[in-house]
Amino acid sequence: MNERRGIVLAGGYGTRLYPITLGASKHLLPVYDKPMVYYPISVLMLAGIRKIAVISTPDDLAQYRRLLGDGNQWGLSFTFIEQAVPEGLSQAYVLAKEFLEGAPSALVLGDNLFYGHGLPEILRIANKRTSGGTIFACKVSNPEQFGVVSFDDKGRATAIVEKPPEPKSDYAVTGLYFLDGSAPERAKKIVPSQRGEYEITALLESYRAADKLAVELLGRGFAWLDMGTHGNLLDAGNFVRTLQLRQGTQIACLEEIAYNNGWLPESWPSDHGAFLKNSTYGQYVKSIMGIV
Ligand code: DAU
Repeated sequence: MNERRGIVLAGGYGTRLYPITLGASKHLLPVYDKPMVYYPISVLMLAGIRKIAVISTPDDLAQYRRLLGDGNQWGLSFTFIEQAVPEGLSQAYVLAKEFLEGAPSALVLGDNLFYGHGLPEILRIANKRTSGGTIFACKVSNPEQFGVVSFDDKGRATAIVEKPPEPKSDYAVTGLYFLDGSAPERAKKIVPSQRGEYEITALLESYRAADKLAVELLGRGFAWLDMGTHGNLLDAGNFVRTLQLRQGTQIACLEEIAYNNGWLPESWPSDHGAFLKNSTYGQYVKSIMGIV
């Protein structure tokens, strides 16, 4: 079976976070106690996806390799792909065409955090839809800053528009896209927008116009945060800290998800003794595994 593969898009210049991102890739910055990129990776893992491509800039890719390795420590397999110039999100599908080998995919933006009751179930349902696509929309107070999906009175999606000055709905399209194996071919046909980008919304619009796009609404029980500005980054860190301290559970602990999915390699934890030693993250992993 052609199993769905994951793509984490972690390139771009991160200009909204300057001067921080002059010296470091945005998706490696800390969000409380772990690197930002752990959060989107955790979403793919919760969807049951093990083969993942990480796309980033030629300058930054080496650091992602160092942080993530080959993925075996979490039962994953990572492929690293360069995006020479950040020309838009839908370019990810063109760059990942060989990696995907015709399989359906789940693309997650490296600066998006998803958290909420029932998320794994929603993701697994989307994973099972192998024809067409699924996107996730969330009500926001500032839709003009996102891709926006509008609906008719029967709740059917009528348009998906990138950062419309006058949005037709309050529903932002979140940075998580489950698309079928036709995505690379469709992406190739997209022409740059007025701002010069190969927009993800143009790709989604091609699915919607063909009546091949399911829109799942993330309701009040979900938190969706993007971490691309100074304020959002701090808010996300505080959100994670507050929940983790209050509940005593971790958000996006990759070892925990791998353990629950039965993916940890047999050599674990002998390879990871040093890593578990000092940090609170390591302490948590130890407690989950019952390691003293
Ligand atoms: O967060 C959800 C929103 O993400 C969607 O609602 C929009 O439809 C979508 O276009 C996107 O909007 P942003 O303005 O947040 O996109 P941004 O340019 O910040 O890129 C999102 C992430 O993707 C960011 O972490 C950098 C990375 N990226 C971006 C581009 C344009 C790349 O890796 N390569 C790229 O070419």
